[in-house]
Amino acid sequence: MTEQPDFVPLCSVDDVKPGEARHYRATQGKWRLKPVAVWNDNGAYHITNYVCPHSGGPLSEGKIENGVLECPWHQWQFDAATGKSARGDAHAISVYECKVEDGQVLLGDVKA
Ligand code: FES
Repeated sequence: MTEQPDFVPLCSVDDVKPGEARHYRATQGKWRLKPVAVWNDNGAYHITNYVCPHSGGPLSEGKIENGVLECPWHQWQFDAATGKSARGDAHAISVYECKVEDGQVLLGDVKA
């Protein structure tokens, strides 16, 4: 079996505007072709799954502020670091390890 890299590039830091997210799919690694959302919280980057657990809304069209991201369809909110609901209920989204190197946002393993 081929060894998978720990982190793979998704985009440039400049591709995602502050307060927003964009949709990407890794072209390599264990999460190859899985749709994810890359978030820019005023220079702090996060990677989550792309589909909202409420009704399938596109999270990458949402907004983020102070570590809390919001789905564009019905405004459900999640903690971008943990994936837990910001409303205190049991709903959650997947969150991935994320790091920035040489101006690139890199996708790691799922962390929550
Ligand atoms: S689909 Fe995301 S809040 Fe309804």
